[in-house]
Amino acid sequence: MSHWQHFRVWRGDSEKGELVDYPVEVNEGEVVLDIIHRLQQTEANDLAVRWNCKAGKCGSCSAEINGMPRLMCMTRMSTFAEDEVITVTPLRTFPVIRDLVTDVSFNYTKAREIPSFAPPPDLAPGEYRMQQVDVERSQEFRKCIECYLCQNTCHVVRDHEENKENFAGPRYLMRIAELDMHPLDTADRQEAAQEEHGLGYCNITKCCTEVCPEHIKITDNALIPLKERVVDRKYDPLIWLGNKIFKR
Ligand code: SF4
Ligand code: F3S
Ligand code: FES
Repeated sequence: MSHWQHFRVWRGDSEKGELVDYPVEVNEGEVVLDIIHRLQQTEANDLAVRWNCKAGKCGSCSAEINGMPRLMCMTRMSTFAEDEVITVTPLRTFPVIRDLVTDVSFNYTKAREIPSFAPPPDLAPGEYRMQQVDVERSQEFRKCIECYLCQNTCHVVRDHEENKENFAGPRYLMRIAELDMHPLDTADRQEAAQEEHGLGYCNITKCCTEVCPEHIKITDNALIPLKERVVDRKYDPLIWLGNKIFKR
């Protein structure tokens, strides 16, 4: 069973662009990315789109569908009414390169700004020991596919270009939280989170958590606990020291 659907896709580059209307055939079981590929094969051969796995795991096909940040390969056409106009636009927070492809290098810059895992210098690889509970705590964060939907959605940068320099965004504040929870990490993550990576800009609106395709509880399990540890420490630096020595 197939039907025709009205698609509206943003076409353009960094200079200018517009929404272009396309009637397109939709078959049972298809996702939005299938339709974008059909447009490439038929009416819009030069439509630029980034994708790779078609299985929700590479994080490449992020876009905004009817204004909602989503993975195109995981958005089923059956979730829309057949007479609905489906509007597909590029991620709004990052500069457009062409059509649905944006320049996400902001995220790579932020990733590089976080110092990597710093184990105690007297421990050789293979000598690391940690409690199973600590291993499990960070597993949730390691499900991240770096689709940047959370980075695109957080209002701190979505509506305020000027904050980009000082705010790492939810994905990278979560990375700092993960390292801070690591019992073998010796770096001072809390002060850096606040002073260098903009933890204080986050006012826990949870929009990042809402759009995460991996259903990671970014705000509740990473950002709020990190904020709590930063506040504890502000009132009593010994708490920070204690937390590092007697990791929960
Ligand atoms: Fe994507 Fe979730 Fe990772 Fe953010 S935390 S980049 S939304 S997978
Ligand atoms: Fe932004 Fe998420 Fe905080 S959307 S404000 S990082 S809770
Ligand atoms: Fe890989 Fe969509 S194509 S997540």
